[in-house]
Amino acid sequence: MFRTSLVLTLYFIAIKADNDIKANPLPSFVQSCQRSSVNLNDCVQDSIESLIPMLSKGIPELFIPPLDPLHIPEVTLEENSGAVVFSSSYKNISVKGLSRFGISSVEVNPKIPEFRFKFYFPEIQIKANYSVTGKIMLMPLQGDGLVRANFTDVDATVLMTGRLIEKDEHKHIEVIKIHPEYTIGGSKVHLENLFNGDEKLGSAMNSFLNENWKSVSEEIRPIMEELMASMLDNTASKLFNAFSFDTLLPL
Ligand SMILES: *[C@@H]1O[C@H](CO)[C@@H](O)[C@H](O)[C@H]1NC(C)=O
Ligand SMILES: *[C@@H]1O[C@H](CO)[C@@H](O)[C@H](O)[C@H]1NC(C)=O
Ligand SMILES: *[C@@H]1O[C@H](CO)[C@@H](O)[C@H](O)[C@H]1NC(C)=O
Repeated sequence: MFRTSLVLTLYFIAIKADNDIKANPLPSFVQSCQRSSVNLNDCVQDSIESLIPMLSKGIPELFIPPLDPLHIPEVTLEENSGAVVFSSSYKNISVKGLSRFGISSVEVNPKIPEFRFKFYFPEIQIKANYSVTGKIMLMPLQGDGLVRANFTDVDATVLMTGRLIEKDEHKHIEVIKIHPEYTIGGSKVHLENLFNGDEKLGSAMNSFLNENWKSVSEEIRPIMEELMASMLDNTASKLFNAFSFDTLLPL
């Protein structure tokens, strides 16, 4: 058995954070959905779909940062799980394509409450300054410079489980667990300046990473899912603090 350890540090996305629990009214552009409705799932899906055109610029009222591009100042990842032993940091990360998605399904169980969303992203492009040392699939990996990666046909499922807590005479959802999962149809990655700029080693490593992208992608799955969970939690927790359960899903 391999010991897995994972350290994730995320320096976030400056967004007006109001950590006070409030029972604000929903912004007028958000369509609310009655939790007892038989069409609850469709209603929530329509409601999210109507917000898609606003996502690239972000929706501060809903604590959603600008999503296209999404800018993340810095992420550091440390992982030790057998085949992957690495320490890496990424700065000035730019992610494009996150506002171009389709919703495949929405399931809301207001009694728990629990939410399951399925999304489809045709293409996600990532660019960042990277610095990495370690091993991936037993191959040494070292370098710092620019990394570009393109992922196509990404299906993502997010299961968010909460519980109801009472604050200021209002019920609010508290996030207990966020479980993201994804599958990737295709991937292309290029790391510049690997091995102190050694062209041969760098190009061999890039070919290796692209030829073995499925295995590589499995290796980094735990950290990617952790990263997605903390980003989603960042928005969801603020949203659930600002709007009561009865405001988000009225009876
Ligand atoms: C950060 O990335 C953006 C877009 O990728 C680029 O225009 C900008 O020059 C970068 N800034 C720094 C400090 O590297
Ligand atoms: C990212 O890399 C570019 C090109 O190598 C460099 O000009 C820029 O300063 C770097 N930005 C950061 C934030 O390290
Ligand atoms: C990603 O796609 C963009 C736009 O199609 C392209 O310019 C870029 O070279 C691609 N990057 C990689 C690593 O394939």
